[in-house]
Amino acid sequence: MAKLLYIEGSPRGERSKSTAVAQAFLKAYQVAHPQDSVETLDLWSVSLPTFDGDMLDAKYAVLHGQAHTAEQAAAWKTVSDMAASFAAADKYLISVPMWNFSIPYKVKHFFDIIIQPGLTFSFSPKTGYQGLVTGKKAVIVYARGGAYGPGTGAEAYDLQTRTLGGLLGFIGITEQHNILVEPTLAGADAVAQTIDKAGEEAHKVAQSF
Ligand SMILES: Cc1cc2nc3c(=O)[nH]c(=O)nc-3n(C[C@H](O)[C@H](O)[C@H](O)COP(=O)(O)O)c2cc1C
Repeated sequence: MAKLLYIEGSPRGERSKSTAVAQAFLKAYQVAHPQDSVETLDLWSVSLPTFDGDMLDAKYAVLHGQAHTAEQAAAWKTVSDMAASFAAADKYLISVPMWNFSIPYKVKHFFDIIIQPGLTFSFSPKTGYQGLVTGKKAVIVYARGGAYGPGTGAEAYDLQTRTLGGLLGFIGITEQHNILVEPTLAGADAVAQTIDKAGEEAHKVAQSF
């Protein structure tokens, strides 16, 4: 039995285009993999700790090979629990809006917390950086008001797939399937067609994921 972690990155609930396509994926996934468990992490309804103070110092202590103070150890436990909970999944589904060409701050905040030395990546002068979240795969649904996909001429502005895809790859999740939902700020009929097309792709990918 595999565990799928669904990370919801849009605060727009039923109006969210990325969430709508992710829901189409989940519906098909649960039919195709009835034995698997699905956990949802809605980044807009959880309280993410501010990454500063003892938590920040704890990270630098790890980077410098120093022992944690009692306060830093307590703060680091929060980080390591969150990283462990993320890494416990076998597969990931992430739905994310484009905000200012990149990802919303809540999504970045979450990854700023869990991407940590010794927890989700390692470094040694000999081998360099290595992702520790290996043997997993992810489907990422990227919604954007404009169009930035291959052939649009606006690919250079797409910091959304490069940021999230880069972060996931850095920690070892290199098997990524991107579903683009674009453009979502077009006429109603065109948007409905875009969502249907992306939903069909999500349905298809879910069968064999
Ligand atoms: C704060 C904010 C910034 C945005 N920035 C961009 C942008 O840079 N480029 C773009 O094409 N659309 C942008 N949009 C539009 C969203 O990407 C679009 O509405 C998308 O469908 C949002 O995903 P969602 O429907 O899942 O919430 C922005 C929307 C918001 C709220």
